[in-house]
Formats: sequence, C-alpha cells, structure tokens
Amino acid sequence: MSEVTEAAVLEALRRVQDPDLHRDVVSLGFVKDLKICGGQVGFTLELTTPACPVKEQLQEQARAAVAAVPGVENVNVRLGAAVRSSLPSGNAAGASIKNVIAVTSGKGGVGKSTCAVNLAAALAATGARVGLLDADVYGPNVPVMMGIHENPRAAGNGRILPLEAHGIKTISVGYMVEDGQPVMWRGPMLHRALEQFFQDVEWGEIDYLLVDMPPGTGDAQISLAQLVPLTGAVVVTMPQEVSLTDVRRAIGMCRQVKCEVLGVIENMSGEIFGTGGGEKTAEAFSVPFLGSIPLEPEVRRGGDAGVPVVVAAPDSPVARAFAEIAGKLAAAIATRKAYELPILEV
Ligand SMILES: Nc1ncnc2c1ncn2[C@@H]1O[C@H](COP(=O)(O)OP(=O)(O)OP(=O)(O)O)[C@@H](O)[C@H]1O
Ligand SMILES: [Mg+2]
Repeated sequence: MSEVTEAAVLEALRRVQDPDLHRDVVSLGFVKDLKICGGQVGFTLELTTPACPVKEQLQEQARAAVAAVPGVENVNVRLGAAVRSSLPSGNAAGASIKNVIAVTSGKGGVGKSTCAVNLAAALAATGARVGLLDADVYGPNVPVMMGIHENPRAAGNGRILPLEAHGIKTISVGYMVEDGQPVMWRGPMLHRALEQFFQDVEWGEIDYLLVDMPPGTGDAQISLAQLVPLTGAVVVTMPQEVSLTDVRRAIGMCRQVKCEVLGVIENMSGEIFGTGGGEKTAEAFSVPFLGSIPLEPEVRRGGDAGVPVVVAAPDSPVARAFAEIAGKLAAAIATRKAYELPILEV
C-alpha cells in the first residue's frame, strides 16, 4: 500500500479553487494543521470569513480531492476562518476591529437600521464577531430594534462596555439618554460622540463593525469618514426609486469621502413598491447588487419587538434573504483588491 505524503495531499488540494478568489486553497494559505497518520488525513480549511457562502461546498471538494489520493482511508476537514483586517494599524477604531461597514442611503426611512440590525445578526449567526454602532445620534433606532433598554457599564479603565444582544455588541446614544428625550447636538459634539464610540468603547475583537447611519448626507457621514478608514459602505434603497436621485446622492457621497461602495440592497421589494429598481441602480453606477429584501410585516414586527427577524424566524424567506446578502457582503469584503493575498510557496 502506498504511503500518503504531505506533498500528495497538497497536490490534490491544489485542484480545489475558491470561487470568489479564483485561486486554489493551497496557494491561498487556507490549508492549516495538516496531519497524516497512516491512511488518516486531517486538516483545517481556514477561510477568509465564517460567512463564506460556499464553505460547505469547499469543505466537500477538499474532502473528495484528498479522499482520491491513493492510500487515503479517511479525511477530516475542519472549517475555520480568520477575517482579515481592512484598516491600517493605528486608526481610531483600534487594532481589534477588522472591518468597518457603513449602512447608508440617500434618504430616510428606507430600512437602513433594519438592514444593519439583521445583517449584523446574520453575520453573528455564522460565528463572526460582530459589532453594531448606532451613528444615528438624533433618532437612534438600534436600542428598540435590538431590544436593549439599559445603560452601558464602565469597563473600569475609563472606557465603557458595549451592550450585547443576539450575539451582537452594540453602542448607541439611545442607551444613554432618557426615552423620548431629544438629542440636540451640533456638528462638533456629534463628531466627538462618534469618536468616543470608536475610541472609548471596549469593543474587544470584532470582525465586522456595522455602522447604522442617520438619514441624509450630513455631519455624521463626514465625521465617520474622517474618524476611521471605512472598509466600505452598503447603500440601502427601495425598488421604486427609478429616478435614481437618492442613490446617486448616497453613492456620490461615498465617492467624495473615498469610501468604496460594497453593494446596493433593495429593501421592501414586492407588490407594493415593485421590484428591480435596486439592481438597475447598482448596474447604472457599476457597483455590486447584493440582493432584495421583501416587504414583510414580520420584518417590522421583529424591529418593534427587539428581536430581529433573522433571529426570530431564521428559516423564513426574509431571514434567508438577509443571510444570503450577509454572505455576499462578507465575500465582497474578503475579495476587495486591497486584500489580495500573497501567493504562498509551498
Ligand atoms: N423589508 C421590510 N418589510 C417591512 N417593514 C420594513 C422593512 N424594512 C423596514 N421596515 C420598516 O420600515 C420602517 C423604516 O425602517 P428603518 O427604521 O429601518 O429605516 P431607516 O432607513 O433606518 O430610517 P431612518 O432614515 O429614519 O433612520 C420601520 O418601521 C421598519 O420596521
Ligand atoms: Mg435608521
């Protein structure tokens, strides 16, 4: 019986391609902890995100490839993930936050907060470490949508601890002011508040920090872009915006502050508002289209009840739509040009 060698196993794995990165898993450096004991082979496939939409497919391809090597009797492929950082070191977000994604739109009420909360929940469900920063200091919606009604505690080192629900760490001005009290801050104070949310909150290790932006293209957008290098932005739109004006404004704003548009989401898609506008818009501006979220009463109910629909009904079509978009978003982040991985010589 032929002896199984590391070289033979790696040779077989070189035929397994990551469909997004268009490279084989060996040269990408995904193969870790390879152990061969007689006919038993075990290794970890360490992907760039736990939200990889094709992770089970890659796992199976890797298993099958190695199983075909002469002498191999049993293959154990563990899935792992190491999310890479898109932020330069020494930025205001700190070394522990790997990616910052603004959820924005050209106008109010299109579902930014709803998408931010549900995408955060969908990413967390894959095992990613997720944070949600509510940058809407004038009308914070995150506390109600997350079902959090308490004050953040001090971490003991002069910093504050984020509040946690549904596996997501969050911070919001809404946790600090009395319900119904208007927040009347001017630009500089808003800038300071956002700065504190990055610098003075004990986030810990975060793979994806989603930022729920306020409506419009004002102070918070500019502040945020000045404070931290954003990985990119997700633009939420509604299907009927055929004029494209609002989305054009949002995309224009991103481009002005040199923030990459990671994709467009069409929210409230269906009979009432129509469907297809989001995709057309994305095409018109040559940015990726991430998918549509249907208009569903359970989405609003989840938001009002503080249990995102992705958590309350994970198997519902709308939760699946959020999960699919979260996977595409994570893949879009992992395949950004800036991330191009060095080819490993093995
Ligand atoms: N797909 C959906 N189906 C049903 N209701 C939805 C959907 N998306 C959002 N909603 C509801 O629409 C309303 C507006 O959504 P949301 O607050 O998320 O918008 P927003 O863009 O964050 O608004 P603002 O600009 O005021 O911050 C909420 O009541 C929300 O529950
Ligand atoms: Mg909102």
